[in-house]
Amino acid sequence: MCGIFAYLNYLTPKSRQEVLDLLVTGLKRLEYRGYDSTGVAIDSPDNKNIVMVKRTGKVKVLEDAIQELFSGSEYSDPVMTHVGIAHTRWATHGVPCERNSHPHRSDDTNAFVVVHNGIITNYNDVKTFLAKRGYEFESDTDTEVFAKLVHHLWKKHPNYSFRELVEQAILQVEGAFAIAVKSKYFPGECVASRRSSPLLVGIKTKTRLATDHIPILYGKDVDSGKPQVLPRSDSTSEFMPLEEKEVEYFFASDASAVIEHTNRVIYLEDDDVAAVRDGTLSIHRLKKSLDDPHAREITTLKMEIQQIMKGNYDYFMQKEIFEQPDSVVNTMRGRVRFDGNAIVLGGIKDYIPEIKRCRRLMLIGCGTSYHSAVATRQLLEELTELPVMVELASDFLDRNTPIFRDDVCFFISQSGETADTLMALRYCKQRGALIVGITNTVGSSICRESHCGVHINAGPEIGVASTKAYTSQFISLVMFALVMSEDRLSLQTRRLEILQALSKLADQIREVLKLDSKVQELAKDLYQHKSLLIMGRGYNFATCLEGALKVKELTYMHSEGIMAGELKHGPLALVDDSMPVLMIVLRDPVYVKCMNALQQVTSRKGCPVIICEEGDEETKAFSSRHLEIPRTVDCLQGILTVIPMQLLSYHIAVLRGCDVDCPRNLAKSVTVE
Ligand code: F6R
Repeated sequence: MCGIFAYLNYLTPKSRQEVLDLLVTGLKRLEYRGYDSTGVAIDSPDNKNIVMVKRTGKVKVLEDAIQELFSGSEYSDPVMTHVGIAHTRWATHGVPCERNSHPHRSDDTNAFVVVHNGIITNYNDVKTFLAKRGYEFESDTDTEVFAKLVHHLWKKHPNYSFRELVEQAILQVEGAFAIAVKSKYFPGECVASRRSSPLLVGIKTKTRLATDHIPILYGKDVDSGKPQVLPRSDSTSEFMPLEEKEVEYFFASDASAVIEHTNRVIYLEDDDVAAVRDGTLSIHRLKKSLDDPHAREITTLKMEIQQIMKGNYDYFMQKEIFEQPDSVVNTMRGRVRFDGNAIVLGGIKDYIPEIKRCRRLMLIGCGTSYHSAVATRQLLEELTELPVMVELASDFLDRNTPIFRDDVCFFISQSGETADTLMALRYCKQRGALIVGITNTVGSSICRESHCGVHINAGPEIGVASTKAYTSQFISLVMFALVMSEDRLSLQTRRLEILQALSKLADQIREVLKLDSKVQELAKDLYQHKSLLIMGRGYNFATCLEGALKVKELTYMHSEGIMAGELKHGPLALVDDSMPVLMIVLRDPVYVKCMNALQQVTSRKGCPVIICEEGDEETKAFSSRHLEIPRTVDCLQGILTVIPMQLLSYHIAVLRGCDVDCPRNLAKSVTVE
């Protein structure tokens, strides 16, 4: 949902071309967040102006334009300090075109330029205010008002620092934003801030950093006009404004854009204003609230650069599908002890007694993350004996769903930044519920705003279509169910059966992945069709929903996940000899009912592809096309049945010539409601 990236070097010689390379690489890493248009802003060779380049389409188009425009020698001279800002857009306000691309500017001299991720909800009011003062707008975006507002404030308060101008501007805007601002009046300075959209600062120094914390400066000292550092209560950690001789700063929407430069980052909090001036980074807040810490921690990222590279795969999605034997093990690593049949979830263990006393469990998420809730609901009901509600975050909010202090609400999100899920989290937190985050992104908003949680540890997921995060979310929720039932004698046999199945899962996923070429053949039969119906029930209904979502988003074919029990209540009318149907029929408690559905389909001349258990001749006899998967315990079957669906959607997308990693109109991290 838009990616922003900014770079500042201080006393570290870099040519403009090198700065542009850094900006373009940063944008490539963030491209999954939006790929409608891109843009950069750097200083002109005489340092007096700001030059911007914007292009419609993906980062590659911008990269080619930059190569053409900036090849002159004046761009290869090193400069000691320079600020560049960059943006990749997922359009919300205004169609994708150069005019609507970021950076946006304050005026035709490019005095202030800004890149923004989020939505400024009161932009119409701000626009009217500025239009009355003579500002003319050149785009249809909400962002442009921000650049012009800073300019207006600069005219009004000529003595304000760059940081103060941005602070005053963010006080006037409502909605969500992560912004980075550059100005020709404040060369060598960059100011960035966030509210509800993610933003971090990466720090690269030649020598080891002398501090692990940066103090927060609050408001203004009335006498000196200088920001105040609050006295610190924690005398064990030394912290000071970051003042290094040679330093490079990176502002980015997420860690994947900075990891190849540095692993030292600060995750900014809502309404933090981070400013770099004379090489010094400081973090400011206008108001102090009671629970504010005194400093922001400089964290060390655990991510490796290889994790965000494609390696030998054609697409990130393909790589991520094939990573699943490892990612599921990483989700369980250090948590499940197969020898002692014990499970410890460090992030929630202190809250388990409270969770056991709750009124109900609510699982809330969007898209694929929501499907992981659907997939595990039945097991959670069985092992916790609590009512379990699964909710789409957007619908949950629309309904103003009643929430009570003794509810436990799980927020499931790969990115940890999805706006609908985050809003639902805040809604439940306000009402006193216990908040549990299930995320894949350390330091994300959902992580930080939860009382406790489970990191799914699937590793970075770059393909826009979620794959390995789904199976890891699934396993995280299964592990939670096992923790909740560890002292229930009557459930021990069942728990043991699930634990044993978990221990074999990685190898079984490897077996399923061997179906790849068979699935590719199937894709050849299906890719020219208009529609694909996917049917199943019980533990495998979630696979139908998830499979249909994958097919839709990657191939732009129509697809529907159908609860087999509902077939005769309507969807059966769609079935004839030309409608492609895929059915999941496994030897679980709903086998007989699934077979009924299968016969209803075949008796309407349907010829379904069947996903069934290895060696199940009786079921296979109903169709000539089948995919056989290894047998596992009923509640984990969904992990093995979803993988052929991931592969199928992938192969259909390739055959249809679709951009697998960047499906049209979508973005990975949906930070707007
Ligand atoms: C589909 C997909 C989306 C996301 C949804 C929620 O492949 O990726 O449906 O699952 O946008 O995103 P997160 O999990 O980041 O909250």
